[in-house]
Amino acid sequence: MNILDIIAKKRDKKELSKEEIEYFITGYTNGEIPDYQAAALVMAIYLNGMSMEETTNLTLAMAHSGDILDLSDLGIVVDKHSTGGVGDKITLILMPIMAALGVPVAKMSGRGLGFTGGTADKLESIPGYRTNISIEEFKNNVKEIGISLITQTGNLAPADKKLYALRDTISCTSSIPLISSSIMSKKIAAGANKIVLDVTCGDGAFMKTKEEAEELASVMKQIGTLAGKETVCIITPMQQPLGYSVGNTLEVIEAIEALKGNMQEDVKEVVLELGSHILKLAGKGESLQENKQKIENCIASNLAYEKFLTLVEKQGGDSSYCKDTNKFKKAKYEMNIISEQDGYLQEMKASFIGKAACLLGAGRIQKEDSIDMSAGIILHHKVGDMVKKGDIIATLYTNQESKLEEAKSIVEEAIKI
Ligand code: URA
Repeated sequence: MNILDIIAKKRDKKELSKEEIEYFITGYTNGEIPDYQAAALVMAIYLNGMSMEETTNLTLAMAHSGDILDLSDLGIVVDKHSTGGVGDKITLILMPIMAALGVPVAKMSGRGLGFTGGTADKLESIPGYRTNISIEEFKNNVKEIGISLITQTGNLAPADKKLYALRDTISCTSSIPLISSSIMSKKIAAGANKIVLDVTCGDGAFMKTKEEAEELASVMKQIGTLAGKETVCIITPMQQPLGYSVGNTLEVIEAIEALKGNMQEDVKEVVLELGSHILKLAGKGESLQENKQKIENCIASNLAYEKFLTLVEKQGGDSSYCKDTNKFKKAKYEMNIISEQDGYLQEMKASFIGKAACLLGAGRIQKEDSIDMSAGIILHHKVGDMVKKGDIIATLYTNQESKLEEAKSIVEEAIKI
């Protein structure tokens, strides 16, 4: 077997065998297959697709490219993953709620790349919060306080780490076999028994249409079933950003406010929908409607907020920032985007808002880039709102004054009144 034949086979729209896929994943992970050949094969997969069998074999090969975590001593662990979006702070809100309701939460999250944010980066905007603790400490925290949120540590799905970074540099991110194998390999390696997937759909997501999102959901569900992990997929809109903030510290503040009971309607809808399914999978209630009520009660009783504070403290974070969010460092420069007319906010393209936030310093263009935690955008209106001439639609925050004008024009392009 050799990589040239494998590339040629996929280039010519033929189906790869399990052995050929494993050969590629093993060779690429251990460095024997160079990036340029992997890039050629990834591009061929992107262009010509994969059958369900190929996608499943790719997922399993990636999952087994490193360690598989054993979480069996923690009970029924339900994992959650989003296919990515702009302003997506759902994990920060939802997982403390789930832990407060007795579901063990052992979750690894990724870092942001491009205009999609990563939960690990957001958590690190809380001074002292350690996302890269050992697997042992991770599991101990779940045993002691019912929750741990960390970054992808250890040698879990190393093939995905390499492939994900490679895809990003060759414009091969939005492909159904590549996204589904990337996500499901990590979920399988991270040891959860059951999986709830938030498949985002719209301008700020990889899947732009409902049909594409449904196909991705169906493929991931089938992989989950084949891997013996009950999997539920919820399709959620990502046409405009989720909630009212985009950017690391800004999103953490929004998440804290949500846990205190001040939750934006669109965020709440996603939290209730995903949360009710997680509770069901964890054996905490069959009725989705009743589960939603449990979530509402949990927030109202402050238990979810307190669980978040416990989590922050356990992981070394300074919870005084969460108790008084004015303590978070603010960006030096800000600029308002003002409505020039009366009307209704008809559109706020999430991808443009994400790009503008990135430019202001909130995201990475290259994997190695550092992030400006305080940079980002606060939205003062959502699609459907009535606005008047002179109203502030959004506020930009950055420490790089020179970026403000360009970011402003990107945001103006995103908005239609
Ligand atoms: N999230 C992932 O983990 N992988 C993808 O490919 C896309 C979103």
